[in-house]
Amino acid sequence: MEFQNTPKIELHLHLEGAMPPEFARRLADEKNISLEGVFDETGGYAYRDFWHFLEVYEVATQVLTGPEEFARLTKAVLEQSAQHGVVYTEAFISPDFCGGGDVGAWKEYLAAMQQAAAEAEAEHGIKLRGIATPIRHFGPEKAKAAAKCAAETSGDFITGLGIGGDEKAGKLSDFSWSFDCAREAGLQLTAHAGEWGGPESVRDALSLNVERIGHGVRAIEDAELVKELVTRDVTLEVCPGSNVFLGVYPKLADHPLVRLMDAGVNCTVSTDDPPFFHTTMTKEYQDLATVFRFDEQVFLDLNKMAAKAAFCDEDTRAALLKQFT
Ligand code: ADE
Ligand code: ZN
Repeated sequence: MEFQNTPKIELHLHLEGAMPPEFARRLADEKNISLEGVFDETGGYAYRDFWHFLEVYEVATQVLTGPEEFARLTKAVLEQSAQHGVVYTEAFISPDFCGGGDVGAWKEYLAAMQQAAAEAEAEHGIKLRGIATPIRHFGPEKAKAAAKCAAETSGDFITGLGIGGDEKAGKLSDFSWSFDCAREAGLQLTAHAGEWGGPESVRDALSLNVERIGHGVRAIEDAELVKELVTRDVTLEVCPGSNVFLGVYPKLADHPLVRLMDAGVNCTVSTDDPPFFHTTMTKEYQDLATVFRFDEQVFLDLNKMAAKAAFCDEDTRAALLKQFT
């Protein structure tokens, strides 16, 4: 497959959302958990739209009952990413699903995932960093507990705080306590915005002083905002396949990635929730090459931008930049 072996950096991947359906079915069978309504007749995840996707996602996540299950998932996801040439990845991991916001439990989950990541790195060379991710529609109070978990474990593995979930559930500025708490603990910041919300949602994210924005693509609708992203040196975690699959844009040719890049915005490419959107990093590259004529040089530039924006230590960044020169 063309581009399968091209080295890649992925900055926007939800660990739970990367769970292969067959993995979810196996765990459900082992634990006698009903996943009724989660799969279609072909065995893939089934949902009607983004909001139903969030519901199905949460039901599927119920099979991840403890640290051991998250460790198995981490191993499976990293193996798959490595098969698609990914050398460095950052995964959104939700404290809400890993101990419900309890710091002691969260530490146990993290220890198990970190061990699994170390094994995957030894076997496949892929590196993982985690971004603790509160869920917006769970509300600001749950986010505070998640941010405290993140702050307590800020370090080599948990390097960032993000926020996912329903972009229409309240303003991001309602979560400023959580983002301030994380920043004070040395974490770097990203937030989902400008996927379902328009430019105003991207401005809302900027009010949290984030370094990156998950998606952010609808900033293209406001020229002043695009300039502000450039001036502030903010990086967008662009997930073209996700945006097309969920219907943010009717087809890839309509996606604003190239227009954002041409305007000087730092852009990177990721899959978001690959099995839910029937994508892989290889497929993202192939589709971009087909539709926008991206070549090896463009992918190199995108990966260089990703290395610059990665939430990692400077030695790791230097090694990544060297790999993508
Ligand atoms: N959680 C998992 N995938 C998401 C997405 N694309 N947007 C917001 N929250 C998410
Ligand atoms: Zn996402």
